[in-house]
Amino acid sequence: MNGALLSVKDLSVVFPERGKRFFRHGDCVRALESVSFELARGETLSVVGESGSGKTTLLRSLLGLIPPTGGSVELYGRSFQSMTDLERVRARRGCGYVLQDPYGALPPTLTVTGAVTEPWNIVRGHSGREAGIAKARELLDELKLPESLWGERARYSLSGGQRQRVAVARALILDPELLLCDEPTAMQDVSTRAEVLEVLNRRVRAGMSMVLVTHDLLLARRAAKRAIVLHKGRIIESGDTATLLERPSHSYTKALLAALPRLQPL
Ligand SMILES: Nc1ncnc2c1ncn2[C@@H]1O[C@H](COP(=O)(O)OP(=O)(O)O)[C@@H](O)[C@H]1O
Ligand SMILES: [Mg+2]
Repeated sequence: MNGALLSVKDLSVVFPERGKRFFRHGDCVRALESVSFELARGETLSVVGESGSGKTTLLRSLLGLIPPTGGSVELYGRSFQSMTDLERVRARRGCGYVLQDPYGALPPTLTVTGAVTEPWNIVRGHSGREAGIAKARELLDELKLPESLWGERARYSLSGGQRQRVAVARALILDPELLLCDEPTAMQDVSTRAEVLEVLNRRVRAGMSMVLVTHDLLLARRAAKRAIVLHKGRIIESGDTATLLERPSHSYTKALLAALPRLQPL
């Protein structure tokens, strides 16, 4: 074990083209190619790239939800493939995952409070139910979700941005050591975007590690000191986020910067 929380070596993921179950010559998508990086405990990494660059595939691979076609992902020095089912469940329990659009991940029958407390009840059992509800309320309050919505059905009665904040609360309720966030502020309006990021950064200051996926370089810098830039599944640039913003060396990174609105009020 090398002390890294997360160690990704030469990771490649190849999908059959959508709608096709088998590979035929040329019918594949190379979603990730030879991706390598490490994440230490307490560290945050931003993953930046345009749509289709492989960001979501990378997050899902980090949780072992997509098996690598080549290379390896190790969490706490172990690959998911080498774990028993129980070990895999335990390893994932230490990780929170905020999906890009959590619509399908929020159970249809549960209220907002119910959706946030569900992971707590599964892990801690119903004996700690009251404590779970109290913690859920604290989180929803911190994430500025109006109390009038807490009893609404999480999946159907909320806007995309509100749903995402419920998903953030649900991912944080078990105090994860590692949080994986897929464009967590993409659906937020300007006023809530900074607040969500502040909630995440507060957890990082308290020791949580985070991988934050975004196509927004400014957000990447506000969340992390270090970033990798993905283009067609490859890391084309990596390093200090401030340097990437001020002196991007790759034309693709420059194009990502140019695509940002001039005065982003975050
Ligand atoms: N399950 C899948 N089957 C086939 N192709 C996929 C699948 N998931 C993702 N892809 C393809 O892999 C590439 C990377 O996708 P994705 O990781 O979702 O990118 P991003 O999150 O950066 O937008 C895209 O070309 C996408 O169409
Ligand atoms: Mg994505």
